[in-house]
Amino acid sequence: MKMSQAPVGVFDSGVGGISVLRELVKLMPNENYIYYGDSKNAPYGPKSLEEVRTLTLSHIDFLVERGAKAIVVACNTATSAAIVLLREKYPNMPVIGIEPALKPAVLHKENARVLVMATPMTIREEKFHHLMENYESRATIYPLSCPGLPEFVEAGNLDGEDLRAYLKKLFEPYFGKVDAVVLGCTHYPFVRPVIQQMFGNGVAIFDGGAGTARELRRRMRECGILNPSEEQGNIEILNSKETPEEIILCEKLLHL
Ligand code: DGL
Repeated sequence: MKMSQAPVGVFDSGVGGISVLRELVKLMPNENYIYYGDSKNAPYGPKSLEEVRTLTLSHIDFLVERGAKAIVVACNTATSAAIVLLREKYPNMPVIGIEPALKPAVLHKENARVLVMATPMTIREEKFHHLMENYESRATIYPLSCPGLPEFVEAGNLDGEDLRAYLKKLFEPYFGKVDAVVLGCTHYPFVRPVIQQMFGNGVAIFDGGAGTARELRRRMRECGILNPSEEQGNIEILNSKETPEEIILCEKLLHL
């Protein structure tokens, strides 16, 4: 098989990265993809740095062994924990991470008040602190750790009463006080309609999926490994839970 026809490996702690895969397929439908979600070990957000590093490195090794020509770490948490190590380990292939889409949120309006939702680890890690330092002179930024939210999505609960009650409690201090919300975890875009409804249409919502897809295309073009085929590519979805239900949930999320 030619290198350009090899799949792009996409990884997340669970089903959340499907929100990124969706953007990748939209931008590059002719590429082949292999998606690996570690739902058995999700959520990663509350785990220790060491644990997330170990899990992420071993799952990326698996994708590389399966012949991936490029890697997308479609998880903000795994990116903050392991992207530097991954790039050291695989210096000859594009390794793209994802980070909260703070830049477009800050730039969308003068003196914006921006709520950044993410996992406890993403908020705590140095990578996010650097990102915040770049923009805090131009906006008011409220980091909001959301432990428990990925679990709703992992259970396929995208609109339940319990989810709404959870979000209402989390958002209570910010209603009427923010102009933008950043979905800094790849599970959150699946509950975007509920979040939009709660804040109202006056609040802009941002996520990093489309930007990550553009960055992957740029890097693959640079390396000369874009697939020249004009046909629809193949998408293989794998999950550490290995149950048919899990794959059905992923397929459903991919086509939402
Ligand atoms: N999807 C992951 C992210 O983007 C986090 C979910 C988890 O805690 O496992 O940060």
